[in-house]
Amino acid sequence: MAATISATLLDWYDRHARDLPWRAPPGTRAPEPYRVWLSEVMLQQTTVAAVKPYFAAFTARWPTVEALAAAPEEDVMAAWAGLGYYSRARNLVKCARVVAEMGGFPQSEKALRQLPGLGDYTAAAVAAIAFGRRAVVVDANVERVVARLFAIEEPLPAARKAIRAKTDAITPDERAGDFAQAMMDLGSSICTARDPKCLLCPLAEQCAGRKTDDPARLPVKAPKKAKPLRQGRAWWIEQEGSVWLVRREGTGMLSGMRALPDDGWSARGNGQGGPDGEPLGLVRHGFTHFDLELSVLRHDAPLGEGEWWALDQLDEAGLPTLFAKAARLALA
Ligand code: ADE
Repeated sequence: MAATISATLLDWYDRHARDLPWRAPPGTRAPEPYRVWLSEVMLQQTTVAAVKPYFAAFTARWPTVEALAAAPEEDVMAAWAGLGYYSRARNLVKCARVVAEMGGFPQSEKALRQLPGLGDYTAAAVAAIAFGRRAVVVDANVERVVARLFAIEEPLPAARKAIRAKTDAITPDERAGDFAQAMMDLGSSICTARDPKCLLCPLAEQCAGRKTDDPARLPVKAPKKAKPLRQGRAWWIEQEGSVWLVRREGTGMLSGMRALPDDGWSARGNGQGGPDGEPLGLVRHGFTHFDLELSVLRHDAPLGEGEWWALDQLDEAGLPTLFAKAARLALA
């Protein structure tokens, strides 16, 4: 059964693999580890469509891990702006430096797992895709496919253990990287969250979920906690075609990124204090653990340490999405 599943899926992948810039076509030489690692870090919590232009920009500007290792962290942070989860970018630079120092990426999952920013998923994905190692690769797409294939009724996140064991059982010794990417492709094109296209699925015959009356129900998820709402304020300070930008300090949210001065909503729950000003409007933004409602106020003198940034070059400031939204509001 396990052998049939992997053989059937690999056969499907040979015919239907998506052509993606970080991939090698099935059966050809593996892509460079640098490109595999970079793409896998970018693809965490982020869609393929959103990643593509960033992957192109990064690989054009920093074509090797050595080039990325030599880049100033601020440049990498600014180039990452808009992708979110900025600790990924900080770890990217750290990891590039370690790897350049080592003379290249290690090949085993265990050694990859030691690198900055590489969790279980990324280490397994790089070992399998770049180095052809057998590794069990489980992302959200794979979770969904496996939960359905074996009709796992236990809710997530508790079901992760069972899902991993089943994924292990069907992962082949050869072509584990193609197998993982085949599972991802199946999850994103056929075994989709809301509307699985079972009639097109190469694994339909073997799928226990399909024999239930509603495979789309799987995986069952524990109810999500409602996210709290925080409120904060940020200041738009404009003078002679420039705006006052600060660089966020410390190790907290969006640290190292350029930003509008704000009232500390990120560190203290709701922000506090600061000068009043003409209200320009509200920006809403969802973070992982809370939603933020940011009130943008016009102010007339610099706040905090910062720099004047020309408005006609604001695109190059590398503002994270929250502050890019606030700038758009102020300039509208
Ligand atoms: N999501 C994460 N990694 C991926 C990959 N290698 N191909 C397609 N989607 C992915």
